[in-house]
Amino acid sequence: MHVPIDDNVLVGLATADDAGVYKISEDLALIQTVDFFTPVIDDPYSFGRIAAANALSDVYAMGGVPKTAMNIVGYPMANLGKQSLREILQGGIDTLKQADTVLLGGHSVEDAELKYGLSVTGFVHPLKILTNQGLNDGDGLILTKPLGTGIINTAIKAGLAKPETIRRVTELMSTLNRRASEILQEFPLSACTDVTGFGLLGHLAEMITNTTSGAVIETAKVPVLKEAVEFASIGFVPAGAHTNRRHREKMLVLTENFDPVLRDILCDPQTSGGLLAGCPEKKVSLAVERLRNEGIEAACIGYVREDAKNKIYLR
Ligand code: CO
Ligand code: CO
Ligand code: CO
Repeated sequence: MHVPIDDNVLVGLATADDAGVYKISEDLALIQTVDFFTPVIDDPYSFGRIAAANALSDVYAMGGVPKTAMNIVGYPMANLGKQSLREILQGGIDTLKQADTVLLGGHSVEDAELKYGLSVTGFVHPLKILTNQGLNDGDGLILTKPLGTGIINTAIKAGLAKPETIRRVTELMSTLNRRASEILQEFPLSACTDVTGFGLLGHLAEMITNTTSGAVIETAKVPVLKEAVEFASIGFVPAGAHTNRRHREKMLVLTENFDPVLRDILCDPQTSGGLLAGCPEKKVSLAVERLRNEGIEAACIGYVREDAKNKIYLR
């Protein structure tokens, strides 16, 4: 695919990053991203919150500050009526408010299947952009939200999740990556992305794929929703988790008898997942402590290793 670029394109299509970045001046660049999807949960207001938190996340992952947003709506008006749409949009607006981001407009079309999301524009200093490239040997890998939302959403759709599980996962998916991003920016990060549809291992693979380095994941340290372990154990694993795993199978090095449930969780597609950042080894524990002190369920889940040569070791 040939796409036009000019000298002001700082991040384009080549590295499958979270958003595009376009330089306006020596001290300002625009981050642009768009995300929309079909409902992950039944409650319209919560769906709106989650969709907005998810759309905003790519700006935080690039080290930027979101400023403006536009709604994107596909809606079956005859089936669902106006009230649900109002609640979805209100959820989006309330989440944008938390992000100090203004809604400028949007577009809606009649659609057989409900879809909602936003395009978001953010600001960043051209020298402070975080991309998914740049991990250094020895960096600690920090993850800022527990994994398992895809598995739990599958269980919710099957009617198996308890109300408190639904509440917990809804809160988690609605939580902005704003504070996590602000805290992480106090540290000299080498790279950053957010964990979404490709799962932890898929997004980590994108970070190392153009490098000579690899990673070692200490799986016992990866924060995981305990209900996700329960549901994955009885087979509630979304098809996307298997697709993600097959896609990156050649990069994965598993210990003998590696728990297949844990492997599926590490590949589970996340909705509005946490940030995944590379941080110099000496600063990692302080960064994790700062995040945890503010109630963010962050952990150092492993390290970048030059001698791991494009592989991800799970131990
Ligand atoms: Co992203
Ligand atoms: Co995205
Ligand atoms: Co990025």
